[in-house]
Amino acid sequence: MSEDKFLTNKVVLITGAGSGFGRAFAVAFANKGANLVLNDINMKGLEETRDLVLKDNNVEILLAQADISKLEEVERMKKLVFEKFDNVFILINNAGIDGGAYKSLSASEETYDKVMGINAKGTWNVTKTFFRKMKSQRQFKPIRAKIINIASCAGTTNGINPMLGIYSASKATVIAFTKLWALELGPVDITVNALSPGVFLTPIYDNDPKKIRQFLETRGVKIPIDKIGDSKWVADLALFLASPTANYITGQNIVLDGGMTVSINKL
Ligand SMILES: NC(=O)c1ccc[n+]([C@@H]2O[C@H](COP(=O)([O-])OP(=O)(O)OC[C@H]3O[C@@H](n4cnc5c(N)ncnc54)[C@H](O)[C@@H]3O)[C@@H](O)[C@H]2O)c1
Repeated sequence: MSEDKFLTNKVVLITGAGSGFGRAFAVAFANKGANLVLNDINMKGLEETRDLVLKDNNVEILLAQADISKLEEVERMKKLVFEKFDNVFILINNAGIDGGAYKSLSASEETYDKVMGINAKGTWNVTKTFFRKMKSQRQFKPIRAKIINIASCAGTTNGINPMLGIYSASKATVIAFTKLWALELGPVDITVNALSPGVFLTPIYDNDPKKIRQFLETRGVKIPIDKIGDSKWVADLALFLASPTANYITGQNIVLDGGMTVSINKL
């Protein structure tokens, strides 16, 4: 197997793969030889991602439509996955929603349940459903599996954002789970890390750079490297975490935001 295709015969499960970062992960990981399980609630988005991947890659793909906030749907997805594949080497917990601009105490119960239900509980549901199989994968020595959680700057101490109240809380929960799972799963040779992007051009921002700039201006936020992010940069960092070079990294939250969170209240 060439060094370049280091994920050959390994399966990568990506939630929220019908759009944005999820689609970029699918392309990047297929380029490294991985077979893919692409999950989303949006089947049309999944089909578009699959067609994009298959343009340049000859890999096996399972499309798994499921709402990750519902444990029974995730359990159904697990059955489908292991009817087709014999492993999940990488789990990327990426599906998430922003939930609108509200202070946490002004948000409705419905917003709380939806945002926490997908971003926090959904991440827990998928990990809880797949970790047992992942830890049984002794064939992949020295690391049996890897989990990459997509959190956000808004969940970090510096970046916590009162205008994205419940979203911030949900992503802080994802960062906390990342550390907990690193402790729980380290002894069975599973690494668990989080990526916390700053502002990236994806459908979560309606693919509209003007909307992002306005958001930054109203919040008085500056980015030292004054560029809006490209999804490919997040995918490249996820590939690094998936690679053997990162085998000794676990429990970390890696922020990629052009310096935005360190600059808050300073520039
Ligand atoms: N774009 C950014 O700047 C940015 C910054 C920080 C963090 N993030 C995080 O990155 C992740 C991906 O965001 P994106 O920008 O690509 O957004 P996106 O809206 O383009 O993609 C999210 C995908 O998740 C899917 N999804 C939503 N609810 C789901 C559910 N219950 N079950 C399964 N799939 C579901 C959506 O259908 C969509 O395809 C999210 O967790 C988001 O919070 C994004």
